Amino acid sequence: MKTSIWISVAAACVLALPVHAAESMGPGMMHGMGMGMGMQGKMQADNRISLGLKGPQKQHQLANMRAHLEAVSDIVDALSRGEFDQASDTASRKLGMTPQMKMMCNSFKQDDFRTLAFSFHESGDELAKVLKTHDMSASLQALRTTMQFCTTCHSTYRQ
Ligand code: HEC
Repeated sequence: MKTSIWISVAAACVLALPVHAAESMGPGMMHGMGMGMGMQGKMQADNRISLGLKGPQKQHQLANMRAHLEAVSDIVDALSRGEFDQASDTASRKLGMTPQMKMMCNSFKQDDFRTLAFSFHESGDELAKVLKTHDMSASLQALRTTMQFCTTCHSTYRQ
């Protein structure tokens, strides 16, 4: 009886060991991967199209962008509380095609960039509309569509 208990304990230890080892390796490996990716990032050339922005236009554009990110964060926050109308209002005022956004987008010379920027703001208006239906799944899908404009533009253009 005693022997069989010892065997079970020993077996449990042996079984537990690899799990423990894997757990303690997890963060270390992630760190290593992160460093590897960072180095790769440094070596990669930035092939994005430059908008040739200068001086105050640069700061203005970045401030606008930070406001876009804040808007997405506010929308997610409102959604988590089921505040669809508040989320819709934020989408329409901060991501939609407001007169200020139209003016800002029109100040860019590149046609393709402008077209993308306008489609992005149209998607913001569409998002505001979908949020009004209080349909969570459709709202998240619409938010994703809008966010795909963020990622598409960021991977194509730089200042
Ligand atoms: C039509 C193009 C376009 C769209 C759409 C777009 N961005 Fe940007 N964004 C840019 C460009 C260009 C930069 C500058 C990147 C660079 O020069 O490396 C930028 C920079 C940023 C920055 C950096 C700001 C800083 O202070 O450094 C943030 C944050 C950002 N965008 C958020 C967003 C979010 C969030 C969305 C979508 C909700 C979005 N952007 C949509 C073009 C776009």
